Order: sequence, then C-alpha cells, then structure tokens
Amino acid sequence: MIGIAREVGALILEYFHQGLKIEYKGDADLVTAADRASETLIRKRIAEQFPAHDVLGEEQGLNDRGAEYRWYVDPLDGTTNFAHGYPVFCVSMALERRTGADAKRIAGVVYDPTRDELFTAEQGKGAHLNGKPIRVSKIAHLKECLVATGFPSHKRHKNPNIFFYHQITLRTHGVRRAGSAALDLCCVACGRFDGFWEFNLNPWDTAAGVLIVEEAGGSVTRFDGSGFQLDSRETLASNGLVHDALLAEFKQIFEGRELEALPDPRTYQRS
Ligand code: IPD
Ligand code: CA
Ligand code: CA
Repeated sequence: MIGIAREVGALILEYFHQGLKIEYKGDADLVTAADRASETLIRKRIAEQFPAHDVLGEEQGLNDRGAEYRWYVDPLDGTTNFAHGYPVFCVSMALERRTGADAKRIAGVVYDPTRDELFTAEQGKGAHLNGKPIRVSKIAHLKECLVATGFPSHKRHKNPNIFFYHQITLRTHGVRRAGSAALDLCCVACGRFDGFWEFNLNPWDTAAGVLIVEEAGGSVTRFDGSGFQLDSRETLASNGLVHDALLAEFKQIFEGRELEALPDPRTYQRS
C-alpha cells in the first residue's frame, strides 16, 4: 500500500505542477484528470499485486466480487484545493477484511505528496507518520483545543454545519477548514488537531483516516456517540479526552439549546 501511495502521490504532484482543467461532477463538485489518472493507476497496481481483491474507488465505483479483501480508495482527497493550486491534498487507501457479516479495516495509508508525509496504520499495531509512531494530543479541555471540520461540495444548502462551525469556534481555540477530510483525520491522529467532525462523508474519505486515528489512541463515533461505521454519514473524531465535551456541544446544537446567537450583519457596527 505504501509503495502504491508513494507512486500515486508522485503522479498527482506532477499534475499539480502542470496546472489542470477543472470539470464539474455537480454544482461545486470538481474533478480533474489527476483524480482519474490516480484511481486508474491504483486499480492497475492492485490488480497486478492482489488480483483477487475488490476495490471501491470514488471515481470508478465498486467492483464487487464478494472478495475477502476490499480496498477503499480516494485517489485525490482535496480536489478543490488541488484544482485551485492550494497545496493541501492527499491520496487515501484502506484495506478491509470481510468474513461473513464481519468487516474490519486492517490497514490504512494516507499520503500527502506536497509535504512528503506518509500516515500509516495497521490494526492493533499503532499509527505512524513517516515510520515514527504517532499519538493523539493530550489536551483535555475543549477551550484549549484546535479542531477541524469540512463542508461538502454537494447539497450544500441542506447542510447545517455552519451552526456547528459557529458554536464550536466560540468554544475552542478555533476551527480549521482545510479541505481534505483524510488529512484532517491524520492531523487528529498526530495531535495537530484535537478533534474533527463532518457531515456526509463517504467511505473513501474516512476508511483510512479513521483507522489511523483509532490506532493513534483516538476515538471516532457518530454525533450521538454511537459507533462509527463507514456508511454512518456522521464522523466525529477526537483525542478521546474531549470527546464527551464535543458530544455535549453537538447535543445542544441539535436540540437548539443555549446556542450563541449568530451576530446580525444588518445591525453590526462597522466602525
Ligand atoms: C472532499 C474533502 C473535503 C470534504 C468534502 C469531501 P474530495 O473530498 O475531503 O475536505 O469537506 O466533504 O468531499 O471531493 O476532495 O475527494
Ligand atoms: Ca474525498
Ligand atoms: Ca476524491
């Protein structure tokens, strides 16, 4: 997986330096030739080395042969950043073992080619950044946290995340919105962020990053604290120590209780 991630990282970096034509999958949902070339190369390498494995990739979907092993592939996470020349993007791959009704993610790799940062995790064996063990942060108070979120590029008008963004901004050192969910999760895993949440992520966005967070000692749940699944559509990751505090904030926001009112721009004193 590491070999494939590095090879594909080099390929998308070449495209990045060339500059690319943007195409649209939806209103503001972009795709570039780099996304496609990356997934094609990943599938080629998997087919050569692990011909019996199934692959679910963002651009080409699932080839489901009921195999014991399934890869989850985001060939380029952070496409909007990539297309605008903002160097925050990565390739993300996870491997799942499926036995009967049981499915366990057993390995994950996220590679950021612009920083040459390779995040890896193997079930039960910890998480690493460029080969060195990583752990989540030790911050235990929400008010001292730096956290992250993201906003989806489709069905934007239906997403309530701006309320969460506002509330959590006022409760922490700040909320970053860097544009790559896989890297956001890795930043939780190595302690740069203390938490991360997002609505409506897809399995290819989270499969590797969630394993990396868990193997680094962090927690990942839905927004009500129940167990995270790849098809959950709610992802809340943290260092574990501030998880309950974040869940309590989320409960208040969903219930509309004790919220900080959004300042009204029409009455804002501009000088
Ligand atoms: C997107 C990124 C972004 C997140 C979006 C995702 P893509 O993935 O992870 O951070 O906010 O929800 O769709 O489209 O660049 O692979
Ligand atoms: Ca993605
Ligand atoms: Ca993608």
